[in-house]
Order: sequence, then structure tokens, then C-alpha cells
Amino acid sequence: MNWKTLLAAVAGVGFALPALAQDREFRLGLITPPVHVWNQEVAALNDTLQEVSGGRFSVVAFPSGQLGNEATMLQQLQTGALDMAWLTTAEVTTRVPDMAALHAPFLVDNIADAAEVLRSEPAREILDGLPRATGTVGICYAMTGMRQLMTRQPVNSAADLSGMRFRITPAPAIRTFFEMFGAAPAPMPLTQVYDALANGQIDAIDMDFESIINFRYYEHAPNMMVTNHHMFGMVALVSARVWGAMSEEDRTLIGDAIQLHCDRTIDRFVDEEAGKLERLREASGINITDNVGPEFFGDIVERWDAEWANQTPYVARLRELVAGL
Ligand code: BEZ
Repeated sequence: MNWKTLLAAVAGVGFALPALAQDREFRLGLITPPVHVWNQEVAALNDTLQEVSGGRFSVVAFPSGQLGNEATMLQQLQTGALDMAWLTTAEVTTRVPDMAALHAPFLVDNIADAAEVLRSEPAREILDGLPRATGTVGICYAMTGMRQLMTRQPVNSAADLSGMRFRITPAPAIRTFFEMFGAAPAPMPLTQVYDALANGQIDAIDMDFESIINFRYYEHAPNMMVTNHHMFGMVALVSARVWGAMSEEDRTLIGDAIQLHCDRTIDRFVDEEAGKLERLREASGINITDNVGPEFFGDIVERWDAEWANQTPYVARLRELVAGL
């Protein structure tokens, strides 16, 4: 099922359908700051929507968690207090465990394959569970690249990671990975990470190149291990209440516009990832260890899969998909 056929699913879970206003400014929340690629593409989405709707529709962005953290925004979408959000797949895993498969450690070993997974049929199928579990419609995925480890102290072996207070994005599947190599995961929203590093509340972070550059985390955690240990997805959500109140024509118009900017976001991350690593090499005082693969973490992939395969069949399905790429 794709988003165009989701009206039936939305109607099936019994959402009220309020009267449709013709001209509409959609409120869209994000946790990322205005400089982030997601925010740039949301600004471009506003232009696209205005153009294709002849000015009837526009989007106003609320960046940097202005409306609250991602869990709060998900609740707001459910009640219809918020129209749209671009949230991390990590946040959605808390309601849709199948989505945890996208965070399987070392699922892909390069960003081009991450793009293939996010555009795949099994990944799209996972979106079908969103209306019932979250009261949202998942239009499409994008990403913020692959994740790396940044530490205050240099790391020479996996044993050095043991006991480190590692900031993670709040999500059970990510927590499992960090617990399995003996770290002490500290879940916290993106907006709190810089201060937590600066005041010594945490020793290390799980982060992507885009955010490392935007927030200059290397000022307090100057050691970066290039692990690419999981892809970090985004899902473009529309409140099911808002979606259910629109005509089929408007859903097509809006869905196509959002899909266009999901695709552009993915393409930008694929094209720009290597250049971001090169920019970080030029940043002062950063110590980079390249090519840290799954073997550094011993049998962690097998152990993680054994635990999460009990929660979702998509771990096996996505591993199978990647094996065939
Ligand atoms: C994070 O929680 O680490 C995160 C969230 C959104 C974009 C980038 C990073």
C-alpha cells in the first residue's frame, strides 16, 4: 500500500473528518536547526507547494524543537494540533517496532545502499503501520546520513568504550547496540547534546556528519571513529486527521510535493557525505580514525539481530534485501 491508498486505512481507524478549509498554511515541526538539509528542503517544499497549488497551500516550519521534542511532536500530530513533521525514524520506532529494522547495526556499508533501503518496498511497507500506531500518515523517508562515534578521549579498542556515557537518540533499538558493547547509553534530544558535552554530562555521542558540522561537536569530543554503524533515517509525516480531511486531488498534490523533497534530501546526502568527511578532516583539532568496521565490535551484529528478530520480521527482510544489492 502506498500513501495514495491510505485514506481507507485512515478512515478505518475512525478519525473524525473536520470540514476542509481551501487555503491552508501547514505547520511543520522539526528537531533540526535552520541550517540542516532537512530544513532547507522543507523551505523548498513550501515553494513547491505554493507553486503547484496556485498559492492555496504553504508550509511554515518550526525548527530546532520549538514545538517540543520529537515525542511531543508525534503526540501533536496524533491530535491534529500539528499538521506535519519531519521526524527521525528512531523516534517512530517507539510506536512502530518494525521501523527499528532500519537501525540494524551495519545493515549497509555505504550511503548509496542506505538510499536503496529507504526507497525499497519492504521499507515502504513499514509505513503502512503508522496510521493505526501513531495517527499519522508516513509519506516518504529521507535521511541525515550514516552515524559515527565521537568521544572526548581517544579510543584504541572496543574495551575503551566500556562504561562511557554515550548520548544516543532515544530509541530502544539504538540503546540495545550501545548496551551490547558495554557503554552507558544516555538518551537525549538533539537540542540538548552540545551543552551536555560542554558540561561533561556525557563522554561521547552517536552522530552524523551533517550534525557534527552544524553543531561543531568536535570542540568537546575531538575524536571521531568513522564507523557508519547505522543509517539515520527521517520520515515525513502528515497528521492522519489532516490527511483524512483533504480531497483525493489535494492528497495527491501534497504527497507528490513531499515525495519530491524526500527524494532531493536523500540525493543530497548521498552526493555530499564524502565531502562532509573531508570538511571535518580540515577542522582544527579533530582526530579521525577511518574504516572502523563491525569486526571492531566483535559479534555485535549477530547478537543485535538475535534480540531484534524477535520483535520484527523486517530485520531479516532488510538484511536479505541488502545482500542482494
Ligand atoms: C539526533 O537525534 O541525533 C538527530 C536528530 C535529527 C537529525 C540529526 C540528528
